[in-house]
Amino acid sequence: MSGNLTFTMIKPDAFRAGNSGAIIKIIIEAGYGIRAMKLTRLSERKAGQFYNIHKERPFYKDLCAYMSSGPIIPIVLVKENAVEDFRKLIGATDPTKAEKGTIRQMFAKSIEANAIHGSDSDDNALIEGNFFFSELEKFYQD
Ligand code: CMP
Repeated sequence: MSGNLTFTMIKPDAFRAGNSGAIIKIIIEAGYGIRAMKLTRLSERKAGQFYNIHKERPFYKDLCAYMSSGPIIPIVLVKENAVEDFRKLIGATDPTKAEKGTIRQMFAKSIEANAIHGSDSDDNALIEGNFFFSELEKFYQD
């Protein structure tokens, strides 16, 4: 059975462009509750840890530099079928392939500066949420 939690992160391009509020409004209107959220900034080393799964990919170094280039907003979200529905809401990684009305189609600038992250599995949602929020389980009790 799929879980009710996912993790997202508003990326530096979207924050810089002043689109954080518009994006969070879309997420809330799509039925997601916010369990944890903060404004922060990753060091290049921390970005490397977060994207460790991509360390062999040719875009890894650029991705880490980009993800540490400005503030980000990591958010833990709850809703039924959270991971799958959220990936539909944000659209394809490459914004030129993202469906009309998806967050990336509306706000992303490129495949790297693609406005927002969404976990790809329930397991990763927990790992990624815990990466940014210590004692995250306390948030679930509300
Ligand atoms: P995200 O969903 O956060 O997960 C991995 C990120 O790597 C992805 O969004 C993009 O920002 C980036 N990415 C994936 N594929 C490429 C690519 N071909 N070139 C550059 N960046 C990429």
